Amino acid sequence: MGRDSFDLVIAANRLPVDKVTAPDGSTSWRRSPGGLVTAMDAVMRDREGAWVGWAGDAGEAPPPFVDTGMALFPVALSAQEIADFYEGFSNDTLWPIYHDVIVPATFHRHWWKAYSRVNERFAEAVCDVAAPGATVWIHDYQLQLVPALVRARRPDVRIGWFNHIPFPPVELFAQLPWRGDILMGLLGADFLGFQRKADAENFVRACRRLMSLGTRGEQVRVPEQDGTTRTVRAAPVPISIDVAGLETLARTPEVRARAVEIRESLGNPKKVLLGVDRLDYTKGIRHRLKAYQELLRADVIRPPDVVFVQVATPSRERVDAYRELRTEVERTVGQINGEFAAIGFSAVEYLHHSYGREEMAALFLAADVMLVTPLRDGMNLVAKEYVTCRFDGDGALVLSEFTGAYHEMRQAYVCNPHDIEGMKRVITTALTDPAPVRRRRMRTLRRNVRANDVQNWAHRFLNALEHAPRRPGDEPPDRPFDQPDGATADNPVGGHDT
Ligand code: ADP
Ligand code: F6P
Repeated sequence: MGRDSFDLVIAANRLPVDKVTAPDGSTSWRRSPGGLVTAMDAVMRDREGAWVGWAGDAGEAPPPFVDTGMALFPVALSAQEIADFYEGFSNDTLWPIYHDVIVPATFHRHWWKAYSRVNERFAEAVCDVAAPGATVWIHDYQLQLVPALVRARRPDVRIGWFNHIPFPPVELFAQLPWRGDILMGLLGADFLGFQRKADAENFVRACRRLMSLGTRGEQVRVPEQDGTTRTVRAAPVPISIDVAGLETLARTPEVRARAVEIRESLGNPKKVLLGVDRLDYTKGIRHRLKAYQELLRADVIRPPDVVFVQVATPSRERVDAYRELRTEVERTVGQINGEFAAIGFSAVEYLHHSYGREEMAALFLAADVMLVTPLRDGMNLVAKEYVTCRFDGDGALVLSEFTGAYHEMRQAYVCNPHDIEGMKRVITTALTDPAPVRRRRMRTLRRNVRANDVQNWAHRFLNALEHAPRRPGDEPPDRPFDQPDGATADNPVGGHDT
């Protein structure tokens, strides 16, 4: 690796590639799962910078290396830290709290210690590679202490943080025994980006209610040790995808031919329904299967005319709630196929694998109806990918109102996944609407997604970070900050919202 200091440093829990060790001991690199990597990979391809993150396996970190032009700086996690920091605190404490407690959150003090220790390690790794005055862009809920830790070591750098998942209402956030440390960790940043306006507002409200900090609109006033105050801005900057790149890929003869081939291998059904998700309880896969099963039982749809393809990417497989979800989903798929499949065709095609970008684009192109039905989702890039691949102007997107994507894609076939009857009605409409209605909706959806692609998102985030007030007094003194409402960290609901 030639360079060792960078003007732009990204820190995310995962590197864009995961190290995979085969049974014979040989190692290779595979693209990491999830929306963060999809988005940031595209952003970083056009920029020179460093990416600090975990390489996906236990033990010593591999030496820094370059992958597709990007300098990657691996951070080590021991097997115990993977259990306590990643599977434990990040995905069994924070993830449920930040997703409406769909499953109960688990609290362990030793998980918190591991989270703090690993956040320190990330902060050190960032400071090691950040050039004087660099821009540091920290990502997601796994690294919420890093902004303050970097600020303490490197007051010269500009610090931004973006949350890829929802930020919870104060009533849920208040359950966290370490809520004050997390808020102060985040307030080390100059600018905080969220998926939705409601997420940014939840954060500002938590600062006021739980920390008694003064707030004004999107701004939070933070007292410094020297008696001065600093202003931190928290605002919505909804994430997106590489629209041009994906559409170009979907238009290639190879991807189009593969889409035809996929339909043929499914027996050329009249309608193909598709779901693409990490196997995560937030994604509403159980609710979706239930609605589909009931539509089959009511004889509203019947194989082989209709088939449902569910791609369920393996995810966090050692966390109990994920293990239970997998068992339940696979049992339901078995039941549905037992009841409705026949020799030569299935009612549900269930695929528990990761695929390349070409295959994903071909699947999107082959699907008449895309089912995106999360119970809660920060954004959901799959919804944006589906409409981007439908350059033919056809296809129907069924979209949960509990996704960030819904706020930009209201012309979708919108559903409440908790309402099974309602979801059945929406799916039926998406399957039966006349082509002109479907196409009109798709046209608007495609226009909306094109209007905010991932480059635009990155530009908006970095621009907001660049213009964030830095020193005390930088912010315009146009109107006084709202005074804290009397609540304290021990009494979060003592006050009222202003
Ligand atoms: P999350 O970040 O929660 O996983 P998103 O929908 O925002 O959810 O992003 C998921 C990303 O992962 C998308 O880019 C999607 O295309 C990709 N993806 C999902 N499942 C697979 C799979 N089985 N193989 C390859 N890519 C996948
Ligand atoms: O944004 C949610 C997120 O946790 C991202 O950090 C990541 O892109 C994705 O989900 C996948 O999760 P994990 O890194 O736990 O496999």
